[in-house]
Amino acid sequence: ADTKKIAVLPGDGIGPEVVAEALKVLKKTEELFGYKFETESGLFGGIAIDERGTPLPQDTLDICKRADAVLLGAVGGPKWDNNSKELRPETGLLGIRKALGLFSNIRPAVIFDCLKEASTLKPEVLEGTDLIVVRELTGGIYFGEKFRRETDNGQEAVDTCVYNVKEVERIVHQAFQIARTRRKKLCSVDKANVLETSRLWRETVNKIAPEYPDVELEHVLVDNCAMQLLRRPSSFDVIVTENMFGDILSDEAAMLTGSIGMLSSASLGEGSFGLYEPVHGSAPDIAGQGIANPIATILSVALMLKLSFGYQEAGDVIENAVKSVLDAGHRTGDIAVDKNKAIGTTAMGDLIVDAMNK
Ligand code: NAD
Ligand code: IPM
Ligand code: MN
Repeated sequence: ADTKKIAVLPGDGIGPEVVAEALKVLKKTEELFGYKFETESGLFGGIAIDERGTPLPQDTLDICKRADAVLLGAVGGPKWDNNSKELRPETGLLGIRKALGLFSNIRPAVIFDCLKEASTLKPEVLEGTDLIVVRELTGGIYFGEKFRRETDNGQEAVDTCVYNVKEVERIVHQAFQIARTRRKKLCSVDKANVLETSRLWRETVNKIAPEYPDVELEHVLVDNCAMQLLRRPSSFDVIVTENMFGDILSDEAAMLTGSIGMLSSASLGEGSFGLYEPVHGSAPDIAGQGIANPIATILSVALMLKLSFGYQEAGDVIENAVKSVLDAGHRTGDIAVDKNKAIGTTAMGDLIVDAMNK
């Protein structure tokens, strides 16, 4: 088989801890399937600020551009929270997404049956929940002009939210296409009763919809969607929305699965190249303790194998291994009902590697 190059950016906090487990899973995949993965690591986030004076050094970006896919841990932490915008880890994250053209962020929230008791919601409400949030990732208020100015009332801060038709079209087409491979239901989320960008979004969705007559489309306002996600999560199939709404709704959707430590993501552009990272952050409150849940990152590797490399079966093997380890009752602290029986990050990674079988 040909060699796949993977850029590895562990980042900060629990990032390196969960990435280490994901790399074990990749190694086991090589052994089982005879694939060849070549990894190259780069400094990224807070650690890059400390060592190189910038959250996204040029050589890190070059490593990513040379690769077939990127595996990312997480960035950020209290140490850098009062830095100026250019010296924030999060600015590096936005920068890498933009520089690599990754406008489509796919965040699946799938309920493992045996984890139903780990969620704060009632099991009968969760029954059958299997949804994907498709989040626009390189536009909107995250990337609009930002500035401060002095006024008679003191300082004023401005964040602008901008979307053009092309940006909306490409993400909405992707979402319709994903819906086609699933239960054929698309929910477009906006705030069209208030925001001009949302009105353009909705118009554009309606213009595209006739190309997908087989997909059932609904428009839901974002505040209502936040509520419906808790009321009727299993009725959602694919949710498509703008950058900030997608950020918020995907964290909410994570809790349906029992923990943010379970949610994987893929960030894609036009081709097969992708960046894969857990939805969660660097979790400074538990960093360095060896107790973080590595499953979100491990499931992100499964997405990488399937979406960037076309290694469908290998991805399935990883997902099945996760399921069997959970079915056997093993839990990290975030998903454990009995916290005294919780296992650590490395133990969870080892169990999943051991459970991987063709
Ligand atoms: P967070 O996702 O890091 O943590 C939220 C809560 O979930 C914490 O209590 C944490 O302990 C818990 N948690 C998260 N991941 C977990 C895991 N794998 N296993 C067990 N528990 C887990 O969000 P936050 O606290 O709001 O942000 C912390 C830092 O991370 C901030 O600097 C933020 O900017 C950054 N952040 C980065 C990313 C990213 O790199 N993609 C995403 C979100 C937040
Ligand atoms: C995420 C994170 C980032 C985002 C932050 C850290 C910039 O919350 O990946 O969801 O808002 O996109
Ligand atoms: Mn987020």
